[in-house]
Amino acid sequence: MRKKIVAGNWKMNTTLPEGIELAKAVAAKSAETPSSVDLIVAAPFTHLASIADLLKTSKVELAAQNCADHASGAYTGEVSADMLKSVSCKWVILGHSERRQYYGETDAKLVEKLKLALGAGLGVILCVGENLEEREAGKHFEVVGAQIKDVLYNFTAEDMKHIVVAYEPVWAIGTGKTATSDQAQEIHAFIRKALADKFGAAVAEDTTILYGGSCKPSNAKELFAQKDIDGGLIGGAALKAEDFIQIAKSY
Ligand code: 13P
Repeated sequence: MRKKIVAGNWKMNTTLPEGIELAKAVAAKSAETPSSVDLIVAAPFTHLASIADLLKTSKVELAAQNCADHASGAYTGEVSADMLKSVSCKWVILGHSERRQYYGETDAKLVEKLKLALGAGLGVILCVGENLEEREAGKHFEVVGAQIKDVLYNFTAEDMKHIVVAYEPVWAIGTGKTATSDQAQEIHAFIRKALADKFGAAVAEDTTILYGGSCKPSNAKELFAQKDIDGGLIGGAALKAEDFIQIAKSY
Protein backbone atom coordinates (compact mmCIF):
# COMPACT_ATOMS: atom_id res chain seq x y z
CA MET A 1 0.00 0.00 0.00
CA ARG A 2 1.44 3.33 -1.02
CA LYS A 3 1.64 6.17 1.46
CA LYS A 4 -0.81 9.07 1.47
CA ILE A 5 1.06 12.31 2.05
CA VAL A 6 0.07 15.92 2.53
CA ALA A 7 3.17 18.12 2.29
CA GLY A 8 3.39 21.87 2.80
CA ASN A 9 5.91 23.83 0.77
CA TRP A 10 6.41 27.12 2.58
CA LYS A 11 8.62 28.45 -0.26
CA MET A 12 10.40 31.73 0.68
CA ASN A 13 7.87 32.72 3.33
CA THR A 14 8.02 33.35 7.10
CA THR A 15 10.78 34.78 9.26
CA LEU A 16 12.19 32.35 11.81
CA PRO A 17 9.78 33.42 14.61
CA GLU A 18 6.85 33.15 12.18
CA GLY A 19 8.04 29.76 10.95
CA ILE A 20 8.35 28.50 14.51
CA GLU A 21 4.78 29.63 15.26
CA LEU A 22 3.51 27.91 12.11
CA ALA A 23 5.39 24.69 12.85
CA LYS A 24 4.07 24.68 16.43
CA ALA A 25 0.50 25.15 15.21
CA VAL A 26 0.81 22.40 12.59
CA ALA A 27 2.39 20.03 15.13
CA ALA A 28 -0.34 20.76 17.68
CA LYS A 29 -3.14 20.07 15.19
CA SER A 30 -1.47 17.14 13.47
CA ALA A 31 -3.10 14.66 15.87
CA GLU A 32 -6.47 15.58 14.30
CA THR A 33 -5.42 14.15 10.93
CA PRO A 34 -6.03 10.52 9.92
CA SER A 35 -3.21 8.17 10.93
CA SER A 36 -3.15 6.91 7.33
CA VAL A 37 -1.93 10.32 6.12
CA ASP A 38 1.70 11.39 6.59
CA LEU A 39 2.36 15.10 7.07
CA ILE A 40 5.48 16.92 5.86
CA VAL A 41 6.48 20.56 6.09
CA ALA A 42 9.18 21.99 3.80
CA ALA A 43 10.60 25.03 5.56
CA PRO A 44 13.32 27.49 4.48
CA PHE A 45 16.92 26.36 5.20
CA THR A 46 17.35 28.90 8.01
CA HIS A 47 14.44 27.39 9.95
CA LEU A 48 15.21 23.70 9.67
CA ALA A 49 17.31 23.09 12.78
CA SER A 50 14.92 24.99 15.07
CA ILE A 51 11.80 23.45 13.60
CA ALA A 52 13.20 19.91 13.69
CA ASP A 53 13.15 20.07 17.50
CA LEU A 54 9.57 21.32 17.61
CA LEU A 55 8.29 18.55 15.36
CA LYS A 56 10.03 15.71 17.20
CA THR A 57 7.04 14.83 19.34
CA SER A 58 4.50 15.06 16.50
CA LYS A 59 3.85 13.01 13.36
CA VAL A 60 5.02 15.89 11.16
CA GLU A 61 8.17 15.20 9.15
CA LEU A 62 10.63 17.85 8.02
CA ALA A 63 11.70 18.63 4.45
CA ALA A 64 14.00 21.11 2.75
CA GLN A 65 13.05 22.78 -0.52
CA ASN A 66 16.30 22.13 -2.40
CA CYS A 67 19.84 20.82 -2.01
CA ALA A 68 23.14 21.28 -3.82
CA ASP A 69 24.29 19.23 -6.79
CA HIS A 70 27.70 18.73 -5.17
CA ALA A 71 28.60 16.83 -2.00
CA SER A 72 30.72 19.55 -0.32
CA GLY A 73 33.42 22.11 -0.98
CA ALA A 74 33.79 25.50 -2.61
CA TYR A 75 30.15 26.15 -3.60
CA THR A 76 29.34 29.41 -1.84
CA GLY A 77 25.74 29.75 -0.80
CA GLU A 78 24.80 26.12 -1.38
CA VAL A 79 23.45 23.62 1.16
CA SER A 80 24.35 19.95 0.83
CA ALA A 81 22.21 16.86 1.27
CA ASP A 82 24.42 15.75 4.18
CA MET A 83 23.86 19.12 5.89
CA LEU A 84 20.10 18.61 5.61
CA LYS A 85 20.37 15.14 7.05
CA SER A 86 22.43 16.51 9.94
CA VAL A 87 19.57 18.80 11.00
CA SER A 88 17.08 15.90 11.03
CA CYS A 89 15.51 16.57 7.65
CA LYS A 90 13.81 13.47 6.36
CA TRP A 91 12.92 14.79 2.90
CA VAL A 92 13.99 17.22 0.23
CA ILE A 93 11.85 18.69 -2.55
CA LEU A 94 13.75 18.66 -5.85
CA GLY A 95 12.91 20.03 -9.28
CA HIS A 96 10.18 22.43 -8.20
CA SER A 97 9.04 24.41 -11.24
CA GLU A 98 10.13 27.64 -9.55
CA ARG A 99 13.67 26.29 -9.38
CA ARG A 100 13.50 25.03 -12.95
CA GLN A 101 12.12 28.37 -14.14
CA TYR A 102 14.13 30.91 -12.09
CA TYR A 103 17.34 29.07 -11.23
CA GLY A 104 18.08 27.07 -14.35
CA GLU A 105 17.53 23.69 -12.73
CA THR A 106 17.90 21.09 -15.48
CA ASP A 107 16.99 17.41 -15.48
CA ALA A 108 20.73 16.61 -15.65
CA LYS A 109 21.38 18.65 -12.50
CA LEU A 110 18.43 16.97 -10.84
CA VAL A 111 19.93 13.55 -11.43
CA GLU A 112 23.02 14.66 -9.49
CA LYS A 113 20.91 16.15 -6.71
CA LEU A 114 18.80 13.01 -6.41
CA LYS A 115 21.89 10.81 -6.20
CA LEU A 116 23.31 12.93 -3.37
CA ALA A 117 19.99 13.19 -1.54
CA LEU A 118 19.35 9.44 -1.68
CA GLY A 119 22.98 8.78 -0.74
CA ALA A 120 22.53 10.97 2.34
CA GLY A 121 19.47 8.93 3.35
CA LEU A 122 16.90 11.58 2.47
CA GLY A 123 13.58 10.89 0.82
CA VAL A 124 12.99 12.93 -2.34
CA ILE A 125 9.83 14.66 -3.52
CA LEU A 126 10.50 15.14 -7.25
CA CYS A 127 8.32 17.76 -8.93
CA VAL A 128 7.26 17.54 -12.55
CA GLY A 129 4.72 19.50 -14.56
CA GLU A 130 4.05 21.40 -17.76
CA ASN A 131 3.57 25.15 -18.24
CA LEU A 132 0.50 26.83 -19.73
CA GLU A 133 1.90 27.04 -23.24
CA GLU A 134 2.74 23.34 -23.20
CA ARG A 135 -0.71 22.44 -21.84
CA GLU A 136 -2.47 24.56 -24.46
CA ALA A 137 -0.41 22.94 -27.21
CA GLY A 138 -1.47 19.53 -25.89
CA LYS A 139 2.13 18.67 -25.03
CA HIS A 140 1.66 17.93 -21.32
CA PHE A 141 2.09 14.16 -21.62
CA GLU A 142 5.22 14.62 -23.70
CA VAL A 143 6.73 17.17 -21.27
CA VAL A 144 5.95 15.26 -18.10
CA GLY A 145 6.96 11.95 -19.70
CA ALA A 146 10.34 13.43 -20.63
CA GLN A 147 10.89 14.81 -17.10
CA ILE A 148 10.14 11.39 -15.60
CA LYS A 149 12.41 9.57 -18.05
CA ASP A 150 15.30 12.05 -17.97
CA VAL A 151 15.43 12.04 -14.19
CA LEU A 152 13.90 8.91 -12.69
CA TYR A 153 14.95 6.39 -15.34
CA ASN A 154 18.51 6.89 -14.05
CA PHE A 155 17.52 5.27 -10.75
CA THR A 156 16.60 1.79 -9.56
CA ALA A 157 13.47 0.13 -8.20
CA GLU A 158 15.18 0.17 -4.80
CA ASP A 159 15.73 3.95 -5.07
CA MET A 160 12.04 4.40 -5.93
CA LYS A 161 11.16 3.30 -2.36
CA HIS A 162 12.53 6.68 -1.26
CA ILE A 163 11.08 8.82 -4.05
CA VAL A 164 7.70 10.54 -4.20
CA VAL A 165 6.57 12.25 -7.41
CA ALA A 166 4.63 15.54 -7.27
CA TYR A 167 2.73 16.58 -10.38
CA GLU A 168 2.45 20.36 -10.31
CA PRO A 169 1.11 21.98 -13.48
CA VAL A 170 2.89 25.34 -13.59
CA TRP A 171 -0.30 27.11 -14.69
CA ALA A 172 -2.03 26.02 -11.48
CA ILE A 173 0.68 27.14 -9.04
CA GLY A 174 -0.28 30.20 -7.04
CA THR A 175 -2.84 31.15 -9.68
CA GLY A 176 -5.99 29.96 -7.95
CA LYS A 177 -6.58 27.87 -11.08
CA THR A 178 -6.64 24.19 -10.05
CA ALA A 179 -6.41 21.35 -12.52
CA THR A 180 -9.77 19.58 -12.57
CA SER A 181 -9.75 16.27 -10.78
CA ASP A 182 -10.13 14.55 -14.18
CA GLN A 183 -7.15 16.43 -15.66
CA ALA A 184 -5.05 15.60 -12.62
CA GLN A 185 -6.12 11.94 -12.51
CA GLU A 186 -5.37 11.52 -16.22
CA ILE A 187 -1.77 12.67 -15.87
CA HIS A 188 -1.20 10.89 -12.56
CA ALA A 189 -2.24 7.64 -14.27
CA PHE A 190 0.14 8.50 -17.12
CA ILE A 191 3.01 9.04 -14.64
CA ARG A 192 2.25 5.74 -12.92
CA LYS A 193 2.30 3.99 -16.30
CA ALA A 194 5.67 5.60 -17.14
CA LEU A 195 7.00 4.27 -13.83
CA ALA A 196 5.54 0.82 -14.51
CA ASP A 197 7.22 0.73 -17.94
CA LYS A 198 10.63 1.16 -16.34
CA PHE A 199 10.35 -0.33 -12.86
CA GLY A 200 7.44 -2.76 -13.17
CA ALA A 201 3.83 -2.59 -12.02
CA ALA A 202 4.53 -3.32 -8.35
CA VAL A 203 6.95 -0.39 -7.95
CA ALA A 204 4.57 1.93 -9.81
CA GLU A 205 1.68 0.85 -7.57
CA ASP A 206 3.76 1.58 -4.47
CA THR A 207 4.91 5.05 -5.57
CA THR A 208 3.15 8.00 -4.00
CA ILE A 209 2.15 10.64 -6.57
CA LEU A 210 1.06 14.00 -5.16
CA TYR A 211 -0.90 16.77 -6.83
CA GLY A 212 0.16 20.41 -6.36
CA GLY A 213 -1.25 23.68 -7.64
CA SER A 214 -3.83 25.81 -5.83
CA CYS A 215 -4.87 22.86 -3.69
CA LYS A 216 -7.01 24.10 -0.79
CA PRO A 217 -9.56 22.84 1.74
CA SER A 218 -12.42 23.40 -0.74
CA ASN A 219 -10.99 21.24 -3.55
CA ALA A 220 -8.73 18.72 -1.78
CA LYS A 221 -11.46 16.14 -1.18
CA GLU A 222 -12.36 15.82 -4.82
CA LEU A 223 -8.73 15.67 -5.95
CA PHE A 224 -7.73 13.13 -3.29
CA ALA A 225 -10.69 10.92 -4.21
CA GLN A 226 -9.03 10.15 -7.55
CA LYS A 227 -7.51 6.69 -7.87
CA ASP A 228 -3.99 7.82 -8.69
CA ILE A 229 -3.79 10.96 -6.53
CA ASP A 230 -2.09 10.06 -3.26
CA GLY A 231 -2.14 13.46 -1.57
CA GLY A 232 -0.95 16.97 -2.17
CA LEU A 233 1.98 19.34 -2.25
CA ILE A 234 0.50 22.51 -0.86
CA GLY A 235 1.89 26.03 -1.31
CA GLY A 236 -0.17 29.03 -0.22
CA ALA A 237 -2.65 27.06 1.89
CA ALA A 238 0.22 25.48 3.87
CA LEU A 239 1.01 28.89 5.39
CA LYS A 240 -2.14 28.65 7.50
CA ALA A 241 -2.01 25.71 9.91
CA GLU A 242 -5.80 25.51 9.95
CA ASP A 243 -6.06 25.16 6.14
CA PHE A 244 -3.15 22.76 5.89
CA ILE A 245 -4.65 20.45 8.52
CA GLN A 246 -8.08 20.77 6.93
CA ILE A 247 -6.60 19.57 3.63
CA ALA A 248 -5.05 16.55 5.37
CA LYS A 249 -8.41 15.81 6.96
CA SER A 250 -9.98 15.60 3.48
CA TYR A 251 -9.02 11.94 3.46
P1 13P B 1 0.14 26.78 -4.46
O1 13P B 1 -0.57 25.77 -3.60
O2 13P B 1 0.36 28.08 -3.78
O3 13P B 1 -0.50 26.90 -5.82
O4 13P B 1 1.61 26.19 -4.72
C1 13P B 1 1.78 24.87 -5.11
C2 13P B 1 3.21 24.54 -5.05
O5 13P B 1 4.01 25.03 -5.84
C3 13P B 1 3.66 23.62 -4.01
O6 13P B 1 4.98 23.23 -4.21
